[in-house]
Amino acid sequence: MLHQKKLIVVASIAATVVISIAATKAPVVKERNLKILPKDISDEKLDSIMKTYNVALGVKCDFCHVPYNKLNFGMKDSLDYASDTNPMKEEGRKMMRMTIDINKNYFYFTKDVRPEYLHVVQCKTCHQGQPFPPEN
Ligand code: HEC
Ligand code: HEC
Repeated sequence: MLHQKKLIVVASIAATVVISIAATKAPVVKERNLKILPKDISDEKLDSIMKTYNVALGVKCDFCHVPYNKLNFGMKDSLDYASDTNPMKEEGRKMMRMTIDINKNYFYFTKDVRPEYLHVVQCKTCHQGQPFPPEN
């Protein structure tokens, strides 16, 4: 009897591990949902741009991105980055467009950089670590 209980515990732990691995792998194969950044952007470039948003606004990735699903057993980094469910993401897109326009129209001195990657004016120029820029 005791032995059987132990088996059930072991089996359910194994199942949890398998499901967790499946859950973390799922987002990787997704196609990108990019409307502003270049479609051929590298993972590294995308990641470093996103990290600048966190720092500039003083937020975490979940400020704009929703959790992937509820079956992640509390595992971290399970955000559905391609989803547009969080309205803050679209607000972010408006800000990206504005920032790209400012750089492209007023600071595009060397044409060897893609306008999306210019950063004379960046999020932190206005935000200074706040989701809503401080008024002064
Ligand atoms: C201020 C809002 C904001 C924050 C904070 C943010 N993101 Fe994003 N993220 C966006 C927007 C907007 C897009 C879509 C860009 C586009 O349409 O070109 C995006 C797209 C992405 C994508 C591409 C998803 C796809 O379509 O495949 C990934 C991956 C991503 N973000 C990861 C992150 C990570 C990791 C963090 C934290 C380090 C983060 N983001 C923080 C706004 C944000
Ligand atoms: C020229 C200054 C400026 C720049 C550059 C800028 N922002 Fe903003 N941003 C603002 C201001 C001002 C607000 C507050 C608007 C308000 O009060 O509704 C704001 C608000 C936001 C918000 C909250 C949206 C809301 O609900 O009002 C997000 C998200 C955001 N910015 C993201 C970004 C990101 C990401 C970047 C860089 C790609 C960026 N911002 C660059 C000035 C700027």
